[in-house]
Amino acid sequence: MISHETIEKNLGLLIVLTILIVSVGGLVQIVPLFFQTSTTTAVAGLKPYTALQLSGRDIYIREGCVGCHSQMIRPFRAETERYGHYSVAGEFVYDRPFLWGSKRTGPDLHRVGGRYSDTWHVAHLLNPRDVVPESNMPAYPWLDRPLKDAAIQKKMRTLNIVGHGYSEEEIANAPAELADKTEMDAVIAYLQVLGIHAPKN
Ligand code: HEC
Repeated sequence: MISHETIEKNLGLLIVLTILIVSVGGLVQIVPLFFQTSTTTAVAGLKPYTALQLSGRDIYIREGCVGCHSQMIRPFRAETERYGHYSVAGEFVYDRPFLWGSKRTGPDLHRVGGRYSDTWHVAHLLNPRDVVPESNMPAYPWLDRPLKDAAIQKKMRTLNIVGHGYSEEEIANAPAELADKTEMDAVIAYLQVLGIHAPKN
């Protein structure tokens, strides 16, 4: 038996044992999550993003919306009263990468789907102050340009590798789905499905 005193006085040994214990502790917490149904199975009704929503999501990432908006409602009363049901893991199984965020300059957007009309979103993205006078969110007038996402089919095929399950037909139709759309249409299509499959209880 090595005494505690020996460990404390021997820096090398202390470091090795600390790393060992932190690793085992970490694995015990993390590994089961990969096998738990509640963290790996989609909530009822959740579907992979359509081509248009997927493109919109990428624009959301490009524009850095995640820098001001979280998508993670915590299980506290102040949060659930304001936003609705707290977020659960099964709502994010098709989010690669997830956009939970860690900064809330603006409100959480996880349950924003269906809260406003498409027209409201257009006005808000063109100039937030037109609909929310005190807003300090930047305007995104350039989103009104045509949507060009040449990689959409490749993205869908790549997501299929990790189990999104797009059919050949969906992939074939993707360019047609994006034709004649603006970047704004895509972002709004994405925003409108956020968090709409909240658990019922
Ligand atoms: C600099 C921080 C900032 C950035 C970047 C930002 N927002 Fe906002 N956003 C805000 C603030 C603050 C509000 C609250 C005032 C308002 O409604 O305009 C807001 C509100 C919103 C709302 C209304 C939410 C609600 O529940 O009322 C939506 C939707 C939204 N933002 C979408 C976006 C999208 C999409 C992007 C990226 C294209 C984006 N935001 C980028 C700060 C930001």
